[in-house]
Amino acid sequence: MESVTQSFVAVLDFGAQYGQLIARRVRDLHVYSEIVPCDISASELAKMAPSALILSGGPASVYAKDAPRVDPGIFELGLPVLGFCYGHQIMAVTLGGAVSHADKGEYGPASLERLGTSELLVSTPGEQTVWMSHRDSVSHVPEGFSVTARTETCQVAAMECAERRLYATQFHPEVRHTAYGRRILENFLFGICRLEPSWTMDSIIDQKVAQIREQVGGDRVILGLSGGVDSSVVAALMHRAVGEQLTCVFVNHGFLRKGEPELVEEVFRDQFNIPLVHVHAEERYLRLLAGVTDPEQKRSRIGTEFWKVFFEEAQRLDGVRFMAQGTIYPDIIESGARKTGGKASTIKSHHNLIPFPKGVHFDLVEPLDHFFKDEVRELGLALGLPPKMVFRQPFPGPGLAIRIIGDVTAEKLEVLRNADAVVREELDAYNERLYEQTGERNSEHSCWQYFAVLPDIKSVGVMGDERTYARPIILRAVESADAMTADWARLPYDVLARISGRIVSEVAGVNRVVYDITPKPPATIEWE
Ligand code: XMP
Repeated sequence: MESVTQSFVAVLDFGAQYGQLIARRVRDLHVYSEIVPCDISASELAKMAPSALILSGGPASVYAKDAPRVDPGIFELGLPVLGFCYGHQIMAVTLGGAVSHADKGEYGPASLERLGTSELLVSTPGEQTVWMSHRDSVSHVPEGFSVTARTETCQVAAMECAERRLYATQFHPEVRHTAYGRRILENFLFGICRLEPSWTMDSIIDQKVAQIREQVGGDRVILGLSGGVDSSVVAALMHRAVGEQLTCVFVNHGFLRKGEPELVEEVFRDQFNIPLVHVHAEERYLRLLAGVTDPEQKRSRIGTEFWKVFFEEAQRLDGVRFMAQGTIYPDIIESGARKTGGKASTIKSHHNLIPFPKGVHFDLVEPLDHFFKDEVRELGLALGLPPKMVFRQPFPGPGLAIRIIGDVTAEKLEVLRNADAVVREELDAYNERLYEQTGERNSEHSCWQYFAVLPDIKSVGVMGDERTYARPIILRAVESADAMTADWARLPYDVLARISGRIVSEVAGVNRVVYDITPKPPATIEWE
């Protein structure tokens, strides 16, 4: 990260399943950490001025033909280095040790026995549980190294050369199943590297505000607000940095949930006093989607139109030089920063996606581009955004339009919005009750995402003495950690009964409620 004066740990990523997790764990200990590609040269790395290095794990075998290598020069920079798993093995091989292919792999929990003294393992028990995931093992440590721990199947489970501050473990300290993983990381960061835990929300805000002011100077900035977490946090942060120079454009496509457009106005216009242009594009979007039933068509029309509306408004404002965006760190990592040799090249391709109309260009400000999602939320709270905005559930950009199966009309939107409001009210309350019982926000049975879906059918019912022919509502409620996989929530029958009862009695045009009991995979969380 540019112009950072505080401690910074670079994580060299060898394709680890847990690469992001390492950076997260370090940041949890209030030390700034960033992921860099494993093939970075020692001189490039030196320019980033890290305080310490961590070499991640990775799926390859160190002697394989295409196995990722590391520039041996990184061990000559005089920096403390800690390697995990593949990082442990590559350190051994690069510095003159050897790795051998074991007959038997070691996967899952293992009992670790400490040998001798080690600053890395200090204040952890002589025997402890660690998390292993390897087949190859270090068979000879490099000259000057000593073995500081072993397991039954792994003779070199930890090694070090304390004099050069080089440490490595075959196990994964970043994984929660390693009982003393946090302590081991603390030992490295604070005991060995002597870093300050100074990466706190207050220091982050001060530092970001200074960076934004330096970049933007006295120029005007425009920002597209969507009602989502990322753009909201950018708005609050930019406002803190440049005040009245910021104008927010809220493109209301009409597919947000009940109360959301009002919340955007209330927070940004009334509470923060940010000049806010609320573009009522609801009719325009309805015309655009008239008769469109294909989910991908809906998505692409909605996405393309956003930029059209946004730039029409942007061009009405005078003297705007910058455009702020809520790009976050996973967007950058996942768009291939690692493969293309770092941040700069990725940002370029990602920026090229913005369809600037002919003759229009803004320089970009992306103050969240090195934050993980939960850090963005924390930042939002620290900047004074309301919890219901900051802890908003994942919500697709095309909004309710992809929760209406078939074509989208104003009438269907009204039905879905009202049914969805009941679902959210009831399941917010259910999650709150679980929180009171367990003390955990994300307890085992908390619902992670929940909403209503409106299918494109009608069914027969009876209300009073009248036959009805009306719409069903599908209830979708899932437990998940990251949306990659999900399971349907085992909601208590009385909660289901209450939701169904309220929807059919409170939402005109609905006579039936069904519950989607499919996990992901094979289904997806959304219906379109
Ligand atoms: P699926 O339906 O693929 O969704 O299981 C996984 C997660 O992503 C959210 N989602 C979206 N988020 N734009 C977004 O910002 C979209 O177009 C979009 N589609 C799905 C979905 O709500 C779930 O949390």
